[in-house]
Amino acid sequence: MVSNQININGEKDVCMQHSEDTVLLASLRSGFGFPYECNAGSCGSCKYELLCGQVESLFDNPPGLTARDIRKNMHLGCQTRAISDISIKTRLSDEYVPLTKTERLKARFVGAHDVTHDIKEFVFVTDQAANFQPGQYALLTFPNLGIKRAYSMSNLANSKGEWCFQIRKVPNGKSTDFLFNEISVSDVIEIDAPYGMAYVRDNSRNIVCVAGGSGLAPMVSITKGASEQGLLKNKNLHFFYGGRSYRDVGVESQLTNLPEFGTKIFFHPVVSESSEENLKHWSGEFGFVHESVEKRLGGDIKDYEFYFAGPPPMTKSLQETLMLKHQVPFNQIHFDRFF
Ligand code: FES
Repeated sequence: MVSNQININGEKDVCMQHSEDTVLLASLRSGFGFPYECNAGSCGSCKYELLCGQVESLFDNPPGLTARDIRKNMHLGCQTRAISDISIKTRLSDEYVPLTKTERLKARFVGAHDVTHDIKEFVFVTDQAANFQPGQYALLTFPNLGIKRAYSMSNLANSKGEWCFQIRKVPNGKSTDFLFNEISVSDVIEIDAPYGMAYVRDNSRNIVCVAGGSGLAPMVSITKGASEQGLLKNKNLHFFYGGRSYRDVGVESQLTNLPEFGTKIFFHPVVSESSEENLKHWSGEFGFVHESVEKRLGGDIKDYEFYFAGPPPMTKSLQETLMLKHQVPFNQIHFDRFF
C-alpha cells in the first residue's frame, strides 16, 4: 500500500511509517517538532492550515477547533489523516522534536493492583525496552474496542519493557470499563509512545509536583525520576495531591520507598469537600490544591519548577494562580492540557 505524502511549510517531507498515522503522529515519527499537547482533539495546540490535498477527520467538531479555524481551513494534526498527498502550513518548533523515538509496540497485560478506591495500576510488558522520560504519556489502543486513549506512565524507563499506568475508573468510560472489568492476563494491546512535554527537567530550582485524580501517575514518575537521576541532592521536591474525599488522597505509599522521602521529598495531601464523612475521617488539610500550593510556598513561589496534571478545573486554577497572580515564568511551568 502506497502511503500519502505530507509536506510541511514547503520544505519538510514526512516519511510515513504507518499509513494510518495522523498528521501529527507521522510528523513526530519523522522527527519534526510539530506542536501538540493532548493528542486527543481538545487543546488545539496541533492546528495546521491545509494548503492542498485532502484529509479525513477522526473527530467531528473537536473542542480544539473553533468555527473561525474551520473557516480558515485549519485542522487538528492529532485528529486528521492524509487521504491524498497534502501540503500544510504550521509553526514547527525544536521544543517539540521528540527526545525519544516514538514507537508502536505490542504490549501484554501482566496484572493490576489497587492504588486507591478508584485508581488501579495496570502493568504491561513489551518485548522491547520501555523508553520514555519521567512525566510522559502513551497512546493505548484496545483492539476489540477500536479506541485509543492517552495515559501517563507511573514508572521509569527500563530495559525489561515494563509499562505501568495508574488509571482512575471513569463512570461509563469505554476504556476504563474494559481495563477494570474485562482485561485478562496475557491480553495484548498496542502502546504508542512516548509523548508529552511535561517531563522532568534538570536545573537548580526546587521541584513542585501537583496532581489530582489520575494526574497522579506522571507526578509519581517525575518524583521517582528526580530521585533516580540524583536531581534531589541539593534541592527539595514538594508533592501536592488533591481529592474530593479522604478516600482519594491516600497515595503516600507511592513515594515512601524513595530514599529522600521525609528529608527531601514532602507529601501534602488536601481534601476539597468538608462533608460530614470527610470531617469524621480526615484530620489533614481541607481546601483546593492550588490554594494549598500557594499557602505552603508563600513568597518563594516564583523560585520553583512546577509540574502538574489532573482534572481541567484544577490545572486551570493552578495555572492562573501561578502565572497571573504570582507571575511565575512560563518556562518554569510544565503540564499537558487534557480536557
Ligand atoms: Fe491536537 Fe491537543 S488538539 S494535540
